[in-house]
Amino acid sequence: MSTLWIGTSWKMTKTLDEGRAWAESLRDDLGGVAPTGVQPFVIPSFTATTAVGEVLGADSPVLLGVQNAHWEDAGAWTGEVSVPQAKDAGAQIVEIGHSERREHFGETVETTRRKVSATLRHGLTPLLCIGESLEVKDAGGSAEFILEQAAGALEGLSADQLSRVVIAYEPIWAIGEKGRPATVEELIEPFAALGEAYTGKVTGILYGGSVNLDNAAELLRIEHVTGLFVGRTAWELGGYLELLRIAEAHAAR
Ligand code: 13P
Repeated sequence: MSTLWIGTSWKMTKTLDEGRAWAESLRDDLGGVAPTGVQPFVIPSFTATTAVGEVLGADSPVLLGVQNAHWEDAGAWTGEVSVPQAKDAGAQIVEIGHSERREHFGETVETTRRKVSATLRHGLTPLLCIGESLEVKDAGGSAEFILEQAAGALEGLSADQLSRVVIAYEPIWAIGEKGRPATVEELIEPFAALGEAYTGKVTGILYGGSVNLDNAAELLRIEHVTGLFVGRTAWELGGYLELLRIAEAHAAR
């Protein structure tokens, strides 16, 4: 059974103090050991990356990430952060192509492909987010759409490079306050398609979108799901710790 990746992006939330407090409590609760069968990860905002990394410590079992990075290593790209800079700040994971970035910041299949490539080139883990709109879902096109997003971003990778990629399927209609939790039934087909294409070839295939303490266990039971990528429920540390316990229990089955 694959290790279950259970992580959170803080999106644009938390001050430095709030971020440090969250990380300190996580560090103290874990005591230097990840729950059995679970790979925890946290993706703060850029300003908190280094601080969170320092609080967690160099030998932490919790992986640290950034929510975006540019495909160029350096240059005149005002407002952007490069993969080497993210690495310098302590990041091990680069989140790429979240639907909020596709919707509001012009992320495309082409930019996600370049960012995946830059991330791998510098030895970090790309966390590629894919997901369809309600319109696409209602037209019955979910699986085809997400397979196209993934194939476009992962085009040209060797088997070894692909094996370092983590995919997060996050249907847009299920994300955030305006979203609604997906039912298990709605996720069977997209995960069957992703599983057929990527199980055994990538590090993991995560689910994200309104994950909460009531649905986490059943989401983990869906075939081909090997982790959860969580927003709101994990922003309070208690919620995140509970998700880790649910995953640990699932891994022990
Ligand atoms: P929510 O869990 O708040 O719906 O957010 C999911 C998400 O977008 C994680 O990246």
